[in-house]
Amino acid sequence: MKISPEILNLVPYRPGKPISETQREYGLKTVYKLASNENPLGCSPKALEAVRGALEQQNLYPDPSHYELLQTISKLWGFPVKQIAVGNGSDELIDLLTRIFCEPKEGVLTSVAAFNAYEVSAGANRAAIRKVPLKEGFRFDLKGIADYYFAHPEENIRLIFVSNPNNPTGTYATKLEIEDFLARVGNRDDLMIVFDEAYNEFVRATDYASAQNYMGTYNNLIVLRTFSKIYGLAGFRIGAMIAPEAVVEVFNRVRKPFNVNDLAQVAAVAALQDNSFLERSQQICWKGLDYFYGKLTEMGLPYVQSQGNFVMFDTLRDASKVHESLLRRGIILRPILNYGFKTQMRISVGLDHENEAAMTALSEVLKEIPVSSLG
Ligand SMILES: Cc1ncc(COP(=O)(O)O)c(C=O)c1O
Repeated sequence: MKISPEILNLVPYRPGKPISETQREYGLKTVYKLASNENPLGCSPKALEAVRGALEQQNLYPDPSHYELLQTISKLWGFPVKQIAVGNGSDELIDLLTRIFCEPKEGVLTSVAAFNAYEVSAGANRAAIRKVPLKEGFRFDLKGIADYYFAHPEENIRLIFVSNPNNPTGTYATKLEIEDFLARVGNRDDLMIVFDEAYNEFVRATDYASAQNYMGTYNNLIVLRTFSKIYGLAGFRIGAMIAPEAVVEVFNRVRKPFNVNDLAQVAAVAALQDNSFLERSQQICWKGLDYFYGKLTEMGLPYVQSQGNFVMFDTLRDASKVHESLLRRGIILRPILNYGFKTQMRISVGLDHENEAAMTALSEVLKEIPVSSLG
């Protein structure tokens, strides 16, 4: 069997451990999973109702033009339909953008500790991933990324991915940083800039700006959004892209005709129109984050202020041991060793009782495992 080296080098994605598996392995009845940045409220009741109403039409293929969904997004987000595309999660959008813009060995540029899908998609599409170190506070160094781009013309960098806010760090680039960055790398015809705004709706920082604001100014800018987080539709698999018309046109040639199933389309149309669910989701997230900040401070664990629905914190111990001990207590968090963080973990905001159970278990585990710095 001959497999190309880029594919062989891919590291399999490690999702949050499923609840059922943890129950089986540890013989537990109650398990709380705060590991995958999902919406603890479920999804919008309006979306559920719409999905129930659509169950009987599932003998039919979905609408390959995504007509109703694109119309709804267009109306609510204020972009013409020709600038919008949807995919099987933003994962699919990331993958196909890499396929579209990179020839084999061309470069994809991002940051250290950026959302891992950029690296996986680069490898799977035989492109070369380049990562610029984070700056202080686990923040993306947009200036450093632009500097790297101009210093390495030989790497033929075709795509820059900026997750804003980023997962797993929860940090963000400010409006000013974005503006300086785009002024340098914007409007180039050999480069596309992708802002992945999966957590956009959770941001509280007042100096944040969505890159959507700059779509009219720069012709090489793409913004990704997802329905998996604030809209609670992770299981349906649906994400959206705002992009220049020419990009959407090419994307629609490359994607599978039925990339977004019918239930996902129906659910997203309804979810988009349920503002009260969106607001409740924001409120529970912000309350949960503030609760975590308080508890982590009490436990003396450093954390990074988050603009997402999760927080990265330092256990000051071997995080794989903390993870294991928490699992035995029925709490699934996310170790982030794959991002190079040996003592940090990520916790997603859950319901109040889940958050409380997680913090109680964590405080017990800290007593069991000695403090260690792993460098
Ligand atoms: C930054 C970021 N982008 C994209 C995604 C993927 O979202 P989707 O479920 O739409 O594929 C995630 C999921 O965790 C994420 O954290």
